[in-house]
Amino acid sequence: MSTPEPIYDRIGEGYVHSRRSEPRIAAAIDVALRTARSVVNVGAGAGSYEPRGRDVVAIEPSSTMIAQRPSGSATAIRATAAHLPFRDRAFDAALAVLTVHHWPGPDRIAGLREMGRVARDGVVVLTWDPSSAGFWLVEDYLPEVLAIDRRIFPPLAEFEAALGPVAVLPLPIPHDCADGFLGAFWRRPHAYLDRGIQRAISTFTKVRDLDAGLERLRADLESGRFAARHAELLAREELDIGYRLVVSGKLAAARTGASS
Ligand SMILES: C[S@@+](CC[C@H](N)C(=O)[O-])C[C@H]1O[C@@H](n2cnc3c(N)ncnc32)[C@H](O)[C@@H]1O
Repeated sequence: MSTPEPIYDRIGEGYVHSRRSEPRIAAAIDVALRTARSVVNVGAGAGSYEPRGRDVVAIEPSSTMIAQRPSGSATAIRATAAHLPFRDRAFDAALAVLTVHHWPGPDRIAGLREMGRVARDGVVVLTWDPSSAGFWLVEDYLPEVLAIDRRIFPPLAEFEAALGPVAVLPLPIPHDCADGFLGAFWRRPHAYLDRGIQRAISTFTKVRDLDAGLERLRADLESGRFAARHAELLAREELDIGYRLVVSGKLAAARTGASS
């Protein structure tokens, strides 16, 4: 691999302390994969959301992330999405979870096309829709995070350009989500003040002044302003904050509902 040091070799240490599979998201991915027996999991990281009961091969460029994969995980090959070391249609399905926005610019379309090339039945991607509104944390306290994510997450049209027609399925986030990604703590605002949780949210590492926004959050939590402002939100069980499953090929053909 002639690429520079993978970014997750630098920021991925300790990832598994707050990043793990959320069972309800894993179940949605499982439904999307339908009857696929063999799956290549691209940008597989430490192994969250690796489907069980299927033949899985993981693709991951960062040795720091590979080192955190639990024993018994699927075989991991060190490679990038843009150059998948497999023949055409080698797998039933290709999966990518919260990773496409990390692929360097030119690799994004190339990587999605590679996934389409190696998957017979279709591709499943968990991503965030940059045309969605975001949520209170990034709107009110960390607008720089929202601006960065709007820049790095691919517009949904890009998936269609690379993969052909896709189904786009909303993925509401449960209030007690077990994974520690950016939107996971929408009903547990104090969690964003925890350094360990902050470290596992990759966009936080790209912001110039994270602490100023989070200090304002701390003050609003202490004064009761936050609770007063978000009373309705704090009563909800799950929330659609823009996370989406994008599904292509035969896996999409069987779906009803929205298509981008
Ligand atoms: C946020 S982690 C997600 C890992 C895992 N899919 C999960 O849901 O926990 C993003 C992963 O994408 C990987 N990644 C970054 N650039 C990549 C590329 N060009 N091709 C494939 N994976 C890449 C990173 O090394 C990292 O492990």
